[in-house]
Amino acid sequence: MQIGIIGAGTMGAGIAQVAAQNNEKVFLIDVNPEVLSKASTNLKVTLEKLVAKEKLTKERADEIFSNITFSSDFSVLKPVDLVIEAIVEKLEIKHKVFEQLEGIVSNDCVLASNTSSIPIASIGSVLKNPSRIIGIHFFNPAPLMPLVEIIPAVQTDSMIVQKVEQIIGSWGKYACICKDTPGFIVNRVARPFYGEALRIYEEGIADFATIDWAMTHFGGFKMGPFTLMDYIGNDVNYAVTESVFAAFYYDPRFKPSFTQKRHMEAGFYGRKSGRGYYNYAEGVELPSPNQDEVLGQKIFNRIIVMLINEAFDALFMQVASKEAIDIAMMKGVNYPKGLLAWAEELGLPWVLEQLEALFEEYGEDRYRPNPLLKRMVKK
Ligand code: NAI
Repeated sequence: MQIGIIGAGTMGAGIAQVAAQNNEKVFLIDVNPEVLSKASTNLKVTLEKLVAKEKLTKERADEIFSNITFSSDFSVLKPVDLVIEAIVEKLEIKHKVFEQLEGIVSNDCVLASNTSSIPIASIGSVLKNPSRIIGIHFFNPAPLMPLVEIIPAVQTDSMIVQKVEQIIGSWGKYACICKDTPGFIVNRVARPFYGEALRIYEEGIADFATIDWAMTHFGGFKMGPFTLMDYIGNDVNYAVTESVFAAFYYDPRFKPSFTQKRHMEAGFYGRKSGRGYYNYAEGVELPSPNQDEVLGQKIFNRIIVMLINEAFDALFMQVASKEAIDIAMMKGVNYPKGLLAWAEELGLPWVLEQLEALFEEYGEDRYRPNPLLKRMVKK
């Protein structure tokens, strides 16, 4: 197949590598020639490293590299079967690109966006043939993260969904189909991992290190919420939280936290700025957690039931299938288990009991137990 990728930044370059490794002929386009040259150099270095580690032969690395044409000229996209747009997250700019694309590619070419937060329906609204628009949402870094969310818009033809699911599957990725709703699966269901951890901190129940320890020790998560936010970047993570909150018409479940906002405002972005919730300066020791088992268990219980409640909400609102919701969290954000399967393991009545206790104590809507969970417990 011939694949066009627009935007040679973090995501576009990664997606180009994935497609090229799967023997597709790729055209990687960017308006900025410097970005193109950086993408080309970076890919060369990555492939050389894989050769050095004996994961690829030199011939295979050369073949992968030669599968990609780096260009600033959109007209090279004329023969492609699929375009994946991965440019800046601005609707007006994306609209311009899609209008331009429609004048170049064939009528059968599928047009996809890698957007994290813009509704696919609104991206497709400028197309003469909007039935070919679809969301194909990779995770960063695209060559390593096995999940891809596939998001049909209300305009999308069902044949396109099948075609894209088949292509993404053939690239060795887990393709999870989900509704065109804010945050899709992962960026919606994962919100309490950060939000409830921040809330627990703000209430003075525990410090960052203790909350992180509770989630890794009792939950088996690879990183605790604060370590993970520092890794993602507080600016990036806060922006997602704010956009999901606004997109859900300010549902209190998704309310952002002042603590995170202040860290972001202070420039405490995390690892990349040398300081986030933790100080990463050389010679500075990371704080030790309070390893009180009762406290740790309480923290884990509160965060896990909030995550499970969100997963139930996604299922209740038919954002995706039960299987897709569980796979998405394991393959998109490395959760040790799928949340719905985890709920069964913990016992649905126990999960509901925990949520009801929080709801009763706080009287806040964010703790309202999901109706589907309630129905299942009743059954
Ligand atoms: P980036 O800023 O690294 O790259 C964007 C690239 O698009 C830049 O190189 C820029 O020169 C180019 N560009 C801008 N306007 C253009 C135009 N009109 N034509 C061609 N190229 C143009 O951005 P990043 O992080 O790769 O994000 C791209 C998209 O992927 C966004 O929609 C974002 O929401 C989404 N996304 C980002 C993830 C991440 O972790 N960074 C994860 C998943 C999705």
